[in-house]
Amino acid sequence: MKTIVLYSSRTGNTRKVAEAIASALPAGTPCLDLTQPLPEDLDAYDCVFLGYWVDKGTADAASQKVLPRLHNPHVALFATLGADPHSDHARGSLEKGAALLPEGVEPVDSFICQGKVDPKLIEAMYKRFPPESLHGRNPQSEARHKAASTHPDAQDLEAAAAFARAVLRQLEGKG
Ligand SMILES: Cc1cc2nc3c(=O)[nH]c(=O)nc-3n(C[C@H](O)[C@H](O)[C@H](O)COP(=O)(O)O)c2cc1C
Repeated sequence: MKTIVLYSSRTGNTRKVAEAIASALPAGTPCLDLTQPLPEDLDAYDCVFLGYWVDKGTADAASQKVLPRLHNPHVALFATLGADPHSDHARGSLEKGAALLPEGVEPVDSFICQGKVDPKLIEAMYKRFPPESLHGRNPQSEARHKAASTHPDAQDLEAAAAFARAVLRQLEGKG
């Protein structure tokens, strides 16, 4: 099973998750930032693990360009976001990423965890939005950012590695 990990990460959260996933895959599995050129033999991989950071409820722009090009036999998605990873928003953010895959390609599985939000972005949102808005400074948004501020943590990274092992087992089981 030839595997590769591709990821996009603005502030490092998704990169950490990508590295945890790659560490659970066969030795030598490439783990590439999408700012680097894609490998010419991308189509030769049996399974691509594609990771993005959630940008306005969907995959970030760099991942949006690559998702429609993944014609590999298997694609597994992973993502990080500031919101609760068990929320409808998190589920929707994974579904929107999956919808960008080529027609007929369904992710074999997906994984999402929380990732701390850039403090500069938080300050910019507090300036831009009034306190009564979802993104303004209020007790709910402060609690949300505080909850995210320690992620991805060791437990998230272990869960990401377990996700990668489970995908591999599932695919190898299928022969
Ligand atoms: C421009 C921008 C838009 C974002 N939009 C969302 C969003 O819609 N929902 C969310 O939960 N988090 C959102 N976030 C938070 C990031 O998805 C989160 O912090 C992620 O872990 C960043 O990953 P990275 O460190 O790999 O760049 C946004 C962050 C930025 C900078």
